[in-house]
Amino acid sequence: MSEQQIIEVDPFDPGRFDPWHHAYLIAELAAPPGVTSPWQLEEVRAMMQDQGTRHRLIGYAGVVDGRVVTSGFLRLPQLDNTDAAELMVHVVPDARRRGYGSAMLAHLEQVASEHGRSVLQAESSWPYDAGHDGAGEPGPSFAAARGYALALGDVKRVLHLPVRAELLDTLAAEAAERHEGFTLRSWAGPVPDELAEGWVRLTSTLGVEAPTGEMHREAEAADVAVLREAEANQAEQGRTKYNTVALDAAGEVVAYTDVATTIHEPGKAYQWGTLVRPDVRGHRLGLAVKVANLQLLQAERPDIELLTTYNAEVNAHMVAVNDRLGFTPIGRLGEFQKRL
Ligand SMILES: CC(C)(COP(=O)(O)OP(=O)(O)OC[C@H]1O[C@@H](n2cnc3c(N)ncnc32)[C@H](O)[C@@H]1OP(=O)(O)O)[C@@H](O)C(=O)NCCC(=O)NCCS
Repeated sequence: MSEQQIIEVDPFDPGRFDPWHHAYLIAELAAPPGVTSPWQLEEVRAMMQDQGTRHRLIGYAGVVDGRVVTSGFLRLPQLDNTDAAELMVHVVPDARRRGYGSAMLAHLEQVASEHGRSVLQAESSWPYDAGHDGAGEPGPSFAAARGYALALGDVKRVLHLPVRAELLDTLAAEAAERHEGFTLRSWAGPVPDELAEGWVRLTSTLGVEAPTGEMHREAEAADVAVLREAEANQAEQGRTKYNTVALDAAGEVVAYTDVATTIHEPGKAYQWGTLVRPDVRGHRLGLAVKVANLQLLQAERPDIELLTTYNAEVNAHMVAVNDRLGFTPIGRLGEFQKRL
């Protein structure tokens, strides 16, 4: 077996950065079509060149005989969750089962531990039909062999657009009967100034309010300056967001949903978060914001043909909403965790 050399990647050096991303991309695309949702080269470049204050991101290339065969990635949250690190390891298909993935993982764990991180988290995708735990699939097998437990199982679903306008109208009317006194507001792009404080107050709790399984997670720091940094970075990445909130009678943001499109994947959109504040649940606000946001997306972006969403398998409420909209399952995403 040839020796693998592990080298930190400089996001400003395309000679190293592009092959590092390419190894990640072809490892992700080795799964059957549609199962994974890899980030595109220019999105990752923009994210790593302009990291902001929320997190530190580090890439490592595993080089064998002059070729990058392994892509390693580390995300170290800086403002919250400072005991945790997110790790990613990808090995190109023709270099697997030679220990390169394990060597990269050991390196990432070492760096994470040097940064004081004791909770290590990683994700992996596999086909929907391979079942909840993905037994026998590369990612889950590798995770198990390296001491990582499946802490949360998510399902990837896709929806072909447009959804019939009549169905959206029917669902909106049905929800409206239950959310009298709340106002819906939709827009494309950055969060309007007057909503920004309320937006970060609510969105920062998504990580702990959505089902988390055994994943160790604390709420994100709620900070408008950090929101503005993230929005500036999204623009650099070529992304546009479509957003809907529900406001209570006092004008406070109590529910939200957001969808992102990217110039690097024409025709596709990705559902990001959806959350209703716990004390106002039961008013169909989850359905209401999703339907209103789809109406906005379909009105402004008739070019979008496919919407992708991820939900915790156990998130019965959100899955029921997605079923009614016509989403169908295609893949699974496992969230794995190991404590040092
Ligand atoms: C998962 C992945 C990184 C493994 O890379 P790798 O270089 O093949 O891993 P290693 O050779 O170090 O494997 C270590 C052990 O994991 C287990 N394992 C890895 N792949 C496996 C597979 N396809 N089937 C069964 N066991 C597997 C084995 O126990 C293996 O030891 P062995 O070969 O001595 O039996 C690679 O398949 C990949 O890139 N997959 C897509 C991305 C992903 O899911 N990454 C993991 C989460 S971030």
